[in-house]
Amino acid sequence: MKYRALGRTGWNVSEVSFGAWAIGGAWGHVSNEEAMGALHQAIDCGVNFIDTADVYGDGRSERLIARLKRERKDEIIVATKAGRRLPKQTIEGYSKQNLTKWIDDSLRNLEAETIDLLQLHCPPTELYSRPEVFGMLDDFVKAGKLRFYGVSVEKIEEAMKAIEYPNVQSVQIIFNCFRQRPAEMFFPNAIKKKVGILARVPLASGMLTGKLRRDSKFAADDHRNFNRHGESFDVGETFSGVDFETGLAAAEEIRALIRSGEHGTPSLTQFALRWILMFDAVTCAIPGGKRPAQVEENCAAADLPALTPEAMRAIRGIYDKKIRALVHDRW
Ligand SMILES: NC(=O)c1ccc[n+]([C@@H]2O[C@H](COP(=O)([O-])OP(=O)(O)OC[C@H]3O[C@@H](n4cnc5c(N)ncnc54)[C@H](OP(=O)(O)O)[C@@H]3O)[C@@H](O)[C@H]2O)c1
Repeated sequence: MKYRALGRTGWNVSEVSFGAWAIGGAWGHVSNEEAMGALHQAIDCGVNFIDTADVYGDGRSERLIARLKRERKDEIIVATKAGRRLPKQTIEGYSKQNLTKWIDDSLRNLEAETIDLLQLHCPPTELYSRPEVFGMLDDFVKAGKLRFYGVSVEKIEEAMKAIEYPNVQSVQIIFNCFRQRPAEMFFPNAIKKKVGILARVPLASGMLTGKLRRDSKFAADDHRNFNRHGESFDVGETFSGVDFETGLAAAEEIRALIRSGEHGTPSLTQFALRWILMFDAVTCAIPGGKRPAQVEENCAAADLPALTPEAMRAIRGIYDKKIRALVHDRW
């Protein structure tokens, strides 16, 4: 594993970290044993940073992480999120009273006195023009309930606004071979402001593992079944907002670029994760993992040699030809 500085926090976090949505819910059934196995594997591989949210399995993901922290002596930094408990996203919903309740619930679930990093969980765009909300987060830091805070965004314009607030330490954004636009304008700005970037949905919900087929079936309670067209939340969170068959074809084109090297032949999953790590602005990728073997494979991407300039150009070409029109101006 390799480590990178996360913004101005003083933390060095694993380049491949762990996304804990799937062990909470909305990805089909994952038993407690499988979830704990995946989490322990991550720590065994050198992961020291876990991303979760209060709503993942209604606190289940946070509670499993609390259990992990009880079972391990290693330093584990936990980033959680707040805001998605609102029945409807409104600016008024981000009140002191609601934030206090969400933070206190997360502290209880995480069995912690302070949240390491709290991220606003994809609030409405207009919220970024409300300094009073960021002022409240500053107050929670002063009160010792939060160590740091950041945001998780859908759109680049939100990310650009968020980093104008001096105490925003991190931006979580979808960034993968199918979502390349953040690298254009946002990354140089984030570097300038020393803001950490968490690359979420790094495998395009599994599409960039190359294992999915036209007839792949997903459980009824898996968002790849129930949110394919954005029925429950932003469609960009499911397969990165890329049409299923187009994504499958593009993933196969990327697979064709893989060459074996002195450390063997990387899998498509590892190649796709290593692509993300080619960008210095990125602090870490946070692939979701349900089973130890997936986590082990994902973490090994950090040790792969750099992709060649030809491979980088070719992946850009595939994006421009097949994917760009579907996503580029949308998020
Ligand atoms: N709004 C937000 O803030 C937001 C939204 C989305 C995600 N996130 C965060 O970002 C994290 C990552 O995104 P994500 O989980 O949505 O998508 P992802 O990381 O692109 O895909 C994760 C899924 O791919 C499959 N997978 C992972 N590693 C694999 C491997 N080595 N081989 C084969 N399959 C593998 C697993 O599902 P199967 O085995 O079932 O295929 C896994 O659940 C989340 O866990 C969460 O922490 C945040």
